Amino acid sequence: MVDGGGRKRLKLERVKLAGFRGLREDEYTLGDLTVFTGGMGVGKTSRLLAVLFALCGEAPYGLTLDDLINSSSDYMLVRVEGSVNNLPFYIERRKRRGGPVAVKTDLPERLRVDPKIFVDGREIAKLFVGAPAEKALKLNQLLGFERYDQVASEITPAPVERRLQELEKQLSALGRIEDIKRRDAETTAEIGWIKDRLSELRVKYMIDSPMVKWAEEVKQRAEEAEQIELEMKGKLKLLEQYRTQLRSLPEAAEGFEEELREMEARNDALNRRIAVLEASIKMIELQRGMSVQTCPLCGAQLSKDALERFAHMEEEYRKVLDEYSSLQIRLSQKRKEVEEYRRLLEQRRFIEAEISRLEGEIAQTRVQIVSEEDLSKALRLLKEAEETKREIELLESKLSALEAQKEAYQTALAQLGSQNHVNLERKIRRLRDLADKIRRIRSALIEAVNEAKNERLASIKSSFKEAFKKIYPYERIKDVDFESRIVRGHEVLYVKCKVDESWVYAHQMSTGENVALSFALLLAVNELASSPLLLLDEPEEGLDESGIRGLAEVLKKMKQRTQLLVATRSPLLASLLGSESDIK
Ligand SMILES: Nc1ncnc2c1ncn2[C@@H]1O[C@H](COP(=O)(O)OP(=O)(O)OP(=O)(O)O)[C@@H](O)[C@H]1O
Ligand SMILES: [Mg+2]
Repeated sequence: MVDGGGRKRLKLERVKLAGFRGLREDEYTLGDLTVFTGGMGVGKTSRLLAVLFALCGEAPYGLTLDDLINSSSDYMLVRVEGSVNNLPFYIERRKRRGGPVAVKTDLPERLRVDPKIFVDGREIAKLFVGAPAEKALKLNQLLGFERYDQVASEITPAPVERRLQELEKQLSALGRIEDIKRRDAETTAEIGWIKDRLSELRVKYMIDSPMVKWAEEVKQRAEEAEQIELEMKGKLKLLEQYRTQLRSLPEAAEGFEEELREMEARNDALNRRIAVLEASIKMIELQRGMSVQTCPLCGAQLSKDALERFAHMEEEYRKVLDEYSSLQIRLSQKRKEVEEYRRLLEQRRFIEAEISRLEGEIAQTRVQIVSEEDLSKALRLLKEAEETKREIELLESKLSALEAQKEAYQTALAQLGSQNHVNLERKIRRLRDLADKIRRIRSALIEAVNEAKNERLASIKSSFKEAFKKIYPYERIKDVDFESRIVRGHEVLYVKCKVDESWVYAHQMSTGENVALSFALLLAVNELASSPLLLLDEPEEGLDESGIRGLAEVLKKMKQRTQLLVATRSPLLASLLGSESDIK
């Protein structure tokens, strides 16, 4: 690294460029403190960026290298001449749009310049804005602490710990091998036992099978006998019910039908007699009125006496009618009685038929009696056979589960089997030692880094206070200092200012105060580990006249160690710095 700290002293003297931003062709010389001033867009920033490109091959944040090429050109070139440790050198960088960067130099080794030499005044004013982590990062970058942090973060036992975890997993897997082997042996033994028992049971089942067949027949017979007995009981009960019913039926009266028939015949006769009598009476009455004297039946001439003899007819007609009406009453009574008699008769016949059917069936029923002894023997046999069958089924399903389990054990053993227990343990021991060592180195390193940081901070502190007092010649802020706090496990550095008797933090300061703080910090840092060169673009941004005056003083002091290129729009700063380089 080329730096101004004594190792290699860099000094730039002349810049030549072509096709670069709005400048196109340009050439300018550089002193210890060169100021580019002029109106907007004259090319002040471009002159700084040309130097940045030539030395570092980079564009500032937010621009690409192709953005640096003049829009009407396809190509840019910047050549810087100067000396390193009083020996002349040149470096030339060129780039075609879309192409790679080409470098030409007479330096024997690569020139490495940190692109942070370009400082944008507008950016520096934002040093203390943003989220705390962002601010801390910016401050750490400015103070050059990020390199320390990076070193500390690079030395980490994490990769070793990861490898350790892997090996420990393998070791525990090896531990599992023993377990699996043991379980595999147990499973094998159980499978053997089950197979023996199964073949024993199958033989038994086969030998027992004729007896089982007999037992099934006996059982079936017993069940049939039970069924028949049950049916018989039902039939006997029904028979008894029919007999009781038959006994309770009234005896059928003999001669009912005959009586009815007689009464019906009498009724017919009476009907016929009534019809004859009514017709005769009507005829006689008619003849009386008409004095016709003929027989109503044959039409023969009748004498008056003969007509008188028919007078008894009315008498008879009355009697016949009386008899007829009394016969009607008795006849309907008799008909009902005969109907009831017929119904009873039918019921009796049905019951008698049922009784004889049941008696016939009962007489024909044959029950095959199964002896108690046979039945209990058969039932015992069947129960045993059922138990044997169930045990066979149970053992068969257990056997297939165990065989699947054994297969899984075999696969696991095949996968894990290739490891070596002793080797693994040795590796793990070694890695543990290594991780311990790394942790020790890391904590020693962090301690050293912290010490270096603190030392650096202490050396920066006095320059910071001094530079701040110059850029900020007011009474409101009496003192400035650093404060380190741990935020989410990380050390975060804050800048604080003493206002009245208490301390306030940078984010509570005005824009100008913030710029003053930031510049003071930048200049203090540079004083400690001075950069060979700083490209300051509008450093007066945000400062008032007193601030600009203070800044000019600090910059003048700084130029003894660091070559400064300043681009400014402020005539005051330009004149305070004794500008000779007014771009027109
Ligand atoms: N790639 C480019 N091609 C052509 N012109 C460009 C290119 N980039 C920038 N310019 C122009 O170059 C000119 C100089 O720009 P530069 O940024 O150097 O101005 P400046 O002097 O710093 O101005 P200010 O004071 O406003 O910051 C401007 O007019 C700008 O528009
Ligand atoms: Mg500019």
